[in-house]
Amino acid sequence: MKYVIISNRLPVTVKRGDSGISFTRSGGGLATGLDSLETDAPKHWIGWCGVHVDDPAERAEIDRRLGDQLLHPVYLSEEQIADYYEGYSNSTIWPLCHYFYSNIVFNDDYRRAYWEVNELFCNEAMKIVEPGDLVWIQDYQLMLLPGMIRERIPDVGIGYFHHIPFPSYELFRCLPERAAILRGLLGADLVGFHTHDYMRHFISAVYRVLNLECRVDEVQLEDRISETEAFPMGINYPLYHDAITTPEVAAHAEMMRGIAGESKVILSVDRLDYSKGILTRLGSYDAFLESHPEYRGKVTLLMVVVPSRDNVEMYRELKNEIDTQVGALNGKYATIGWTPVHYFYRSFSFDELTAMYHLADVALVTPLRDGMNLVAKEYLAAKRDAPGVLILSEMAGAADELRRAIIVNSTNIKQIEDAIFQALTMPDADKLSALRDMQALLARRDVTAWAGEFMRELTKAKARNDELRRKILGPGGIDDIRERFRAGRRRLLVFDYDGTLAPLVSDPAKATPTRDLLDSLDRLAADSGNTVVICSGRDKRSLGDWFPNPAIRLSAEHGAFFRENGQWQGDYGQMVWSGDVMEIIQNVTDHTPGSHIENKQTALVWHYRDVEDWLAELRVTQLINALMRPAALAGLQVMRGRKIVELKVPEFNKGQEIRRLLDKGPYDFIMAIGDDITDEDMFSALDCDAITIKVGRFSDSAMYCIPFQHDVLPFIETLAGDAPRAGAPNSELATAGV
Ligand code: UDP
Ligand code: G6P
Repeated sequence: MKYVIISNRLPVTVKRGDSGISFTRSGGGLATGLDSLETDAPKHWIGWCGVHVDDPAERAEIDRRLGDQLLHPVYLSEEQIADYYEGYSNSTIWPLCHYFYSNIVFNDDYRRAYWEVNELFCNEAMKIVEPGDLVWIQDYQLMLLPGMIRERIPDVGIGYFHHIPFPSYELFRCLPERAAILRGLLGADLVGFHTHDYMRHFISAVYRVLNLECRVDEVQLEDRISETEAFPMGINYPLYHDAITTPEVAAHAEMMRGIAGESKVILSVDRLDYSKGILTRLGSYDAFLESHPEYRGKVTLLMVVVPSRDNVEMYRELKNEIDTQVGALNGKYATIGWTPVHYFYRSFSFDELTAMYHLADVALVTPLRDGMNLVAKEYLAAKRDAPGVLILSEMAGAADELRRAIIVNSTNIKQIEDAIFQALTMPDADKLSALRDMQALLARRDVTAWAGEFMRELTKAKARNDELRRKILGPGGIDDIRERFRAGRRRLLVFDYDGTLAPLVSDPAKATPTRDLLDSLDRLAADSGNTVVICSGRDKRSLGDWFPNPAIRLSAEHGAFFRENGQWQGDYGQMVWSGDVMEIIQNVTDHTPGSHIENKQTALVWHYRDVEDWLAELRVTQLINALMRPAALAGLQVMRGRKIVELKVPEFNKGQEIRRLLDKGPYDFIMAIGDDITDEDMFSALDCDAITIKVGRFSDSAMYCIPFQHDVLPFIETLAGDAPRAGAPNSELATAGV
């Protein structure tokens, strides 16, 4: 077993110098988190090496030297870099996920390149990934990759982590290829986000775009479940916390302190990006100096902007605007001995950066949107024991955890201005108290914990999917069942009807059995060794009309009525529903086009097969809440089934009906098939040696699963094939040679 990490960039920087190519392994958070995973399994990493390489000899050298470290480079052409990386990734998905609608570029070439490069990554992955491996894909540049790998190796474990926000459905729906992107992501066994909000948006998009069955944290697919969870990413806490204790960092800090003099230092560190709120931040600092002239000459904004994506037009424009605004601000307030903003458009070494963090009295982190924001966390850690204040935008994922920061709305200039004043005037004891609380959290939830937790959850999700896949009734399982069927002498065969023997159709009255189904059931029932039962929530008239053969037993309304030897039994009269109850159900039906009421003898059913999923979900909750009290008063049960809510007398359910049937035994072969929640009662009432089959979705209590309803009849036909034709001597007698 191996771990295979796949990200857009490899954790190395490749440089071409006079003496050839050189590599520096980056100490970024992700690389640290993965290095820290305690496992003997080799860890491979696939990614783009960040430079354009055409020369085959140079590629071979890079392959060899990186390969020694289990790093596998993907090579992108200049066109792919422009269309996949700068284009679809950073001009379509990035602005979409950060809610910058007007920055989104919709372009067919970008889209094509994104597909092509995801394929390229998939091809690279196919060279090393094997069944049983755990693959962990990182971030929005590779959203199709989980699906592509799943298609080629169905039983590999795949995790995906989205490092940026996932937008609400209202925005996500603007993406023309939204369905394909979601299907790509659902190739993963586990999809991780930094916050619960992003996770909620993702589930809601899957539900609305793909119309799949979703719970709050999982999506049910044909042959497996894709889980989702929030794992807020941490930092390498000891590294930042201890940085100031190293002579190099201490020396940088001392040098910087000398330059800043008595001035308070406000620090701002970001990649150049419109999502970071740099212009608003400058505006707030300007407003602060304007309304607090007493701070002029006594405070300095140290502003680091790290160059990023400078071939993308929006980024180039932003750079010009920042240059202009910083120039204007310095021009407005600077004196001979004081510069209000020290602006750097470059990156700094770890030692320099941590020295700045340690030195800064205030960190001003005010992104308009940010998946997490690690700078905020690094700042708190690097302060160590020195007092410092974090001003943090509520739009950063980090704000979910760092609640003792001064939280601001990053578009509200006045609020940021006030927060700066509050931070500068806060007593040290208050600063330290908040700092220690947040440091304790960061120490506990560091990047090692983050990667470890994700991998543990991925391992569990994969094991669960392996188990589910084993439950799918394939040729091996069918052979086993047939063998046991043939060996049996007294067999009990119980079938649910809707969703099992017949597909769910818009009008339940039209769900009549097909000729083929009737033939197969008749053949099974013709064998006197078989007790064939259709156990349904349907009323007795429908069942009786559809299955006239008296050899087939029927259980209607969950067993309130049953037909044996052609005779109906069960003497429940027609329930009279209270005015309250009728009004509630009628009201919900009137407000939900496509739904209708069915009035049975022992149950009142609200059907919503034809209602759009999200509306149905809303109405089901409302209906169940509204029925709760009248049902309790009348001693009735409210039950949710597949596309129905049922108010029923509590005495009958399929579990009880199975027990009644078992009392007529003993049987040496028992099989129950059903698709609904109500069928779970049937499965649970049976011993573990009974054959229980869930149709359509997985069930923990069923032994097998048939994913598609249309595969049920062929399966029944195989068993019926072993039974004699109607009218022929029954198999028991035939075997006995009579
Ligand atoms: N950073 C860096 N060099 C610098 C300034 C910042 O390596 O000169 C790092 C910083 O330590 C942090 C990362 O860049 O780990 C920025 O991460 P963040 O989550 O704040 O924002 P992102 O760039 O991922 O949007
Ligand atoms: C964000 C993204 C990362 C990306 C990083 C730097 O953190 O989530 O996937 O690697 O920015 O961006 P770049 O475009 O330079 O890789």
